[in-house]
Amino acid sequence: MDTIKDKNVLLGITGSIAAYKAAEIIRLLRERGARVYPVMTQAATHFVHPLTFQTLASRKVTVKLFEENDEKISHISLAQLADVVLIAPASANIIGKLSGGIADDILTTTALATRAPILIAPAMNNVMYENLLLQENIKRLKAIGVSFIGPEKGKLASGEIGMGRMSAPSQIVEYLERTIQSKDDFQGKTFLVTAGPTREPLDKVRFITSFSSGKMGYALAEEGAARGASIILISGPSLLEPPREVEFYSVESALEMHEKVMEKFAQVDGVIMAAAVSDYRPTMKEAGKIKKSLKEGFALKLVQNPDILKELGRKKRNKILVGFCAEVKNLEREAKKKLEVKNLDLVVANDLTLEGAGFGVDTNVVTLIDKEGKVEHLSKRSKKEVAKGIWDKIKKLMER
Ligand SMILES: Cc1cc2nc3c(=O)[nH]c(=O)nc-3n(C[C@H](O)[C@H](O)[C@H](O)COP(=O)(O)O)c2cc1C
Repeated sequence: MDTIKDKNVLLGITGSIAAYKAAEIIRLLRERGARVYPVMTQAATHFVHPLTFQTLASRKVTVKLFEENDEKISHISLAQLADVVLIAPASANIIGKLSGGIADDILTTTALATRAPILIAPAMNNVMYENLLLQENIKRLKAIGVSFIGPEKGKLASGEIGMGRMSAPSQIVEYLERTIQSKDDFQGKTFLVTAGPTREPLDKVRFITSFSSGKMGYALAEEGAARGASIILISGPSLLEPPREVEFYSVESALEMHEKVMEKFAQVDGVIMAAAVSDYRPTMKEAGKIKKSLKEGFALKLVQNPDILKELGRKKRNKILVGFCAEVKNLEREAKKKLEVKNLDLVVANDLTLEGAGFGVDTNVVTLIDKEGKVEHLSKRSKKEVAKGIWDKIKKLMER
């Protein structure tokens, strides 16, 4: 594979006993034709002398943020030239600083100033790794798209067996190759993603809606764009900021969602319907406000909204169509039914009874079922990670 040939890899090395393993990482990266820019924290220099990495990378190692001589490369030029930032080994300290947005040395400042994907390979003592603060920091970074590889369980520097050992350099380099390659996964393809709830008005001030936050759909839009797809995001009301790189449309009701989706359908290669579109809407919308003085109450009559997914299924031809299915029982059976009735390529099934799954939360637990009946369970993970899994699956479906 020559995925990383001629790519600029910024390799951050921090103050861990595993710092010496960065030498092997540099060797493997250079063997594959990458240009390596080593950046060390001050702490890292206590473990390995910069000369080692300088010799292996055939390039000056950057350690200081402020340096008087002209030879130094600034954090901004490093941030801009990097195709990928790999931090290996990553100390608990650097993970904490990155998660808090701190930029007080050359590595953290560069990491904050780059648009390149960031990959982190943690290495530390098992107690440090299990510390809840560190776990929270990892979660926060994952939620904004930072990738983690490892650590692994094994013999640690302390002699204990536990979680915290840095992944093997060869595994880290393979992971990095996959990350770079995935940037072009959907180059030239356009996908429509829908997100969020819809609002079905009752009167001027009230509406029927769901607890959908839009988080899953927005994560899908962001991940699709990161992998090279042109994304059209059509969203119901959501508090989230749309990702910068997408074409964005905001809608309110299911009827508006239907109209916009149909308008855009012809120009896309696929659709992911992650929006929680209301199945029904009130038959009538009161022009003013429904009065409180209706002593006997009143019956609310609802009519069915158009089934957007089903309509797309009829028109789809060779476009990829992905639907979501949220259930409280018989999940797999219902999901398979939906897949068939709506002519989908893939259904993402959500069990709403599981903790950390479904509406509003930052995580999800899903089952992916494709049209050939292949079932894949994705255990609880951030919606960003679930989005990655869904795009991986779409890629496989398109290759077929
Ligand atoms: C001998 C020794 C080994 C260490 N190994 C690790 C380690 O593997 N992982 C870690 O997170 N911290 C380790 N530390 C602590 C870090 O070096 C320390 O938190 C430092 O502030 C990290 O700075 P940096 O993140 O800027 O590189 C070690 C410290 C010493 C003295």
